[in-house]
Amino acid sequence: MLLAGEVALVTGAARGIGLATVRLMLQHGAKVGLADIDETVGVATCSELQKEFSRNAATFIPTDVTDSMQLRRMFQTTIKEFGKVSIVCNNAGVADEQNWKKMIAVNMVAMMESTHLAVEFMSHTRGGEGGVVINVSSMGGILPMPFGPSYSASKFGIVGFTRSMTECLERDGIRVNCVCPEFTDTAMLATASMTSEQLEMVQSVGILQPEQVAEAILQLATDSSKAGAVMTVTMKRGIDFFLFPGDPGYSSKKSKL
Ligand SMILES: NC(=O)c1ccc[n+]([C@@H]2O[C@H](COP(=O)([O-])OP(=O)(O)OC[C@H]3O[C@@H](n4cnc5c(N)ncnc54)[C@H](O)[C@@H]3O)[C@@H](O)[C@H]2O)c1
Repeated sequence: MLLAGEVALVTGAARGIGLATVRLMLQHGAKVGLADIDETVGVATCSELQKEFSRNAATFIPTDVTDSMQLRRMFQTTIKEFGKVSIVCNNAGVADEQNWKKMIAVNMVAMMESTHLAVEFMSHTRGGEGGVVINVSSMGGILPMPFGPSYSASKFGIVGFTRSMTECLERDGIRVNCVCPEFTDTAMLATASMTSEQLEMVQSVGILQPEQVAEAILQLATDSSKAGAVMTVTMKRGIDFFLFPGDPGYSSKKSKL
């Protein structure tokens, strides 16, 4: 029971990577607040999880992460229900190049705002117990994505933001990390509009299962040596860490993808 006594908050938890993460965290003994904009699926999913695990182990909090008040309420509700928050997984995301300003709001601004709220609610300096924030970026946050430039921008933003939040460890007792998965078998990938060449490229790279990404998120949640880390999850290399110029070990390792 790696997460016994921990309370996690996962956004975008109704399906896909978020749901796989919630399930794994429950299996490891955490209590989990599931936040999602899709109330119908979220309520049904949470009720299934309560039957499978325990009625007191999971709660659904309808949340549009782009709404500051709802985001704050998401933290308050979880703390009211379970007494604290110690793991925050900012996972909610969309891929919609047509509505790119909205996409930036969901994928980048909301993740930043939720990280700041995590610091507010979890920091040692405010009587909290500290903890860990895991932001779900993408390989599109490290490599350019010609078929999704605005999506890529939102995910690059999260990588830069996460890498710059290292002072949270010393000051607040909070590790902020991010994970960059390759293509993953979820509704987001299934509904992405791609040309046949792009689809061929996806098939050649391979497609991860959401459970593989959830395992990576669990590792970041439990590895207290990692703060500011950028974890990659790929079919070729599994779980790895991407090093940037200036990172300790960069010159000897030379980040590979
Ligand atoms: N699927 C992939 O290939 C892939 C690869 C790398 C990274 N990611 C990232 O992983 C994360 C999860 O994606 P997924 O593949 O599981 O997608 P998904 O579409 O299956 O799930 C996304 C969830 O986010 C929720 N959501 C969307 N907008 C929201 C909002 N405003 N407020 C609250 N919830 C909202 C949706 O209702 C849905 O339940 C995203 O951040 C995505 O960018 C996905």
